Amino acid sequence: MAGPRPRPEIMTISPYVAGESTVAGVNRVYKLSSNEGALGVPPGAQAAFEKVSREQHRYPDGSALELRRAIGARFGLDPAKIVCGCGSDDLIYQLCLAYGGPGTEILMTRHGFAIYQIAGTYAGSTVVKADERDLTADVDALLRAVSARTRVVFLANPNNPTGTLLPQSEVDRLRAGLPHDVLLVLDSAYAEYVEAPDYDPGVRLVDAADNTVMTRTFSKIWGLGGMRIGWAYAPPAVIDVLNRVRAPFNVTIASQAAAIAALAEPGWLEKNRAHNTAERARLTAALRGIGIAVRDSAGNFILPDFGTAERAKAADAFMRTRGIIVRPVGAYELPHCLRITVGDIEEVTAVIEALTEFMAQAR
Ligand SMILES: Cc1ncc(COP(=O)(O)O)c(C=O)c1O
Repeated sequence: MAGPRPRPEIMTISPYVAGESTVAGVNRVYKLSSNEGALGVPPGAQAAFEKVSREQHRYPDGSALELRRAIGARFGLDPAKIVCGCGSDDLIYQLCLAYGGPGTEILMTRHGFAIYQIAGTYAGSTVVKADERDLTADVDALLRAVSARTRVVFLANPNNPTGTLLPQSEVDRLRAGLPHDVLLVLDSAYAEYVEAPDYDPGVRLVDAADNTVMTRTFSKIWGLGGMRIGWAYAPPAVIDVLNRVRAPFNVTIASQAAAIAALAEPGWLEKNRAHNTAERARLTAALRGIGIAVRDSAGNFILPDFGTAERAKAADAFMRTRGIIVRPVGAYELPHCLRITVGDIEEVTAVIEALTEFMAQAR
């Protein structure tokens, strides 16, 4: 007797592979596989989390009003145009389910963030990937890939895992070239790390019309990946849709309290951004110095290119013997690369030392 069966496309989804966190037989593990914040949890967020521990029998505020007000105040945005989610992944899923569906296409870039493919397929859409140029989104290729069935276009800027940033003029050209009824989702998970002076994480395009959404997260610079908090800034009609379909209590009491406190942590953003900029530069320069090709990254990670999949695998294995866990990116069609999070000073030094040794041996 056949048991219950999901829709056939569900079984074409490869489960998302999260960054590993343990290596057998190693004492000190350096987890550099998930692009988490390098400097841990903001102290105020930890205190806020502990303070609300007695309130856990209560449901959270389903509209996350206080958190939306805090986000609005921090970034100069109207809280009415913000929806919070259980990580930005949650909001990406909801957007795919609400705007995609059978007979529609969801468009992303060749090496774009994996969740777009998973969520798009789950929604029943066909996920189309436009080729990139130099591991960077190619606006012409994206526009060529648009069809009458395209409903949503995802662009992570900076992109994970490539770290590349599409210049603002190109983002504007993409929006201008897309049909008005195609939803452009600008995924700005790494926005806080970007130093480019003309960078706009999406606010201007959201405000300019009714067809662009920006997604953001507390999982990276704000140091709260474990608490699962993301948010979308969107035009009123999209906010209305998200509020109809999202789970009613999608952000816990503890997460809301921690996120509000993180935003208020004095100097946190500046300290973390300065650390990332300095350590990313040190890591990039050191790897280039020992003959590993590394593109400039705008995020809190780099993507060294080892030339072949075998060499990348060997480098990964070598780093593991030193307790360093990074992210293989074969699933992103980049088997010759590894993605390495910019950790704290000790972690960055450990990566440099391990890869220096690896390259010396490999000669
Ligand atoms: C580009 C991008 N978008 C979204 C996310 C999801 O973040 P979260 O669900 O933790 O908010 C990530 C996480 O790695 C990411 O790299």
